[in-house]
Amino acid sequence: MKLSGIYHAYEQPILSGVDLSVAPGECIGIIGPSGSGKSTLLQILGLLKRPNAGSLFFDSVDVFTLDEEARRKLRLNEIGFVFQDAHLVPYLTVREQLELVQGESETEGDAIGLLTDLGLRHRVTELPERLSGGERQRVAVARALINDPQLILADEPTASLDFVNGRLVMERLADAAHNRNKRVLVITHDERMLDVCDRVLRLRDGQLIAI
Ligand SMILES: Nc1ncnc2c1ncn2[C@@H]1O[C@H](COP(=O)(O)OP(=O)(O)OP(=O)(O)O)[C@@H](O)[C@H]1O
Ligand SMILES: [Mg+2]
Repeated sequence: MKLSGIYHAYEQPILSGVDLSVAPGECIGIIGPSGSGKSTLLQILGLLKRPNAGSLFFDSVDVFTLDEEARRKLRLNEIGFVFQDAHLVPYLTVREQLELVQGESETEGDAIGLLTDLGLRHRVTELPERLSGGERQRVAVARALINDPQLILADEPTASLDFVNGRLVMERLADAAHNRNKRVLVITHDERMLDVCDRVLRLRDGQLIAI
């Protein structure tokens, strides 16, 4: 996956020439001040936002040249996204949040296994309103991983977690890269979580810089 020459502005310019290549098996951490454009960048990578300029290549296809239907398929099958707020569906149980996005090849056992890995085995029949903020966030992580996507994008997945559960989530994300050959990008404010990443990049003044 390769992002090249990305520009994006709202009222102010936010991204001004961002380039990034992510190889299979790589877990990349992204840091940067609040408002620097980290979530905007992740939304562009997740095909949720079209930038003002630039290209995003998946297997040598520029996804911004595809039609909406092809982009939707790519998003559904190849990209797992953990939003900055969990964005769970209020009237679905934990188990059903995963079923909602699950492809036909994944089984109920896969979902339960993943929820167990994330410490949620005893929560599968609960509705989001009965979960803690950290539990909701872990459901959102499970939902991003259930389809076994090639690219996993996580926007502050550890923000509402204590240290132990934060590690659990970061290690599960890094495992997807290191043991399942996925591409993983994680935004975090918590520098203690960055040691599981292979590279850390800082977004600042509209540019991504290796640190
Ligand atoms: N839809 C939008 N319309 C207008 N301005 C926006 C929009 N989304 C974000 N912004 C602005 O763009 C800037 C970058 O926002 P973004 O959410 O990408 O930052 P961030 O680095 O993720 O910040 P944080 O660490 O606080 O989550 C901010 O100044 C924000 O107010
Ligand atoms: Mg953000």
